[in-house]
Amino acid sequence: MTNTLPRENWGLTEIADRWSAGEALRQQIFGAATEKMLELASVQVGSRVLDVAAGSGESSLMAARHVGLTGYVLAADISPSMLNVAAEAAHREGLTNVETRVMNAENLALEPDSFDAVISRIALMLFPNPAKALTEMRRVVKPGGKVAVIVFSALEKNPYHGIPFGIVRRLGNIPPPAPGEPWMYALGDPRALEDVYRRAGFLNVSVRALTIQRRFPSAADAIRTMKNSAVDLRELMTRLNDAQREMAWTDIKEQLGQFEGPNGFEAPGEVLIGVGTK
Ligand SMILES: C[S@@+](CC[C@H](N)C(=O)[O-])C[C@H]1O[C@@H](n2cnc3c(N)ncnc32)[C@H](O)[C@@H]1O
Repeated sequence: MTNTLPRENWGLTEIADRWSAGEALRQQIFGAATEKMLELASVQVGSRVLDVAAGSGESSLMAARHVGLTGYVLAADISPSMLNVAAEAAHREGLTNVETRVMNAENLALEPDSFDAVISRIALMLFPNPAKALTEMRRVVKPGGKVAVIVFSALEKNPYHGIPFGIVRRLGNIPPPAPGEPWMYALGDPRALEDVYRRAGFLNVSVRALTIQRRFPSAADAIRTMKNSAVDLRELMTRLNDAQREMAWTDIKEQLGQFEGPNGFEAPGEVLIGVGTK
């Protein structure tokens, strides 16, 4: 059996709708880390910012609020349906300083030295060639400008995903993805992220870990959300037969129960924020 994960088709409207529905939850989980990414990228009033693989545009809109009317944010993504969600959100909020443009992260159709800062959230590890994408981001940022990204840290540090992945792989006898394979946890080792930054030619490269919390009213809510949103897990589940799948959900419920307490479900997690200067 191949260990290659089927790729999520981000271009599907259905996927964009599902991603859009998770906005409030993502804000709760990644809001503080996103603010840190903007700070590390030196996003400020008047900045021209590029958000690569912006998706439904949450980090683009946060950047747009920082840069104000004298600034500008370009939300770029390979999926037009994700960008439609971003454009509608910007319109609803009256943010006139945001544009969206369909673009492949590994081949940015943009002038060199044309942005003050580049950001990218939970996406770099999904590209077939992250070093190529970072090289492109470096090309379009101005000399002295910064490129900051958020990726997931190691799977073991993110038990909300780590536990179910472990269970499904064990039951289905599915090996982990090969090194270099794009998936959500492909750049979870700080040295791997640092390495792609260096290969892309950045100076002053740094990678820091930031704790995140996944909170839900109950473990049952946590699992319901996981069934709808954990892309790679849903794909892996399709490789199990019905009996194995049922067993997997029983084990997942039991093991994730450890994070349920009097205040509901609370599982720790970790992201990495990488930053480099051109
Ligand atoms: C996990 S989502 C993250 C979206 C957004 N940055 C966020 O944090 O909410 C990954 C995004 O990467 C985009 N994507 C995947 N491959 C891409 C590529 N080669 N070039 C540009 N965008 C890509 C997808 O369309 C999707 O919107």
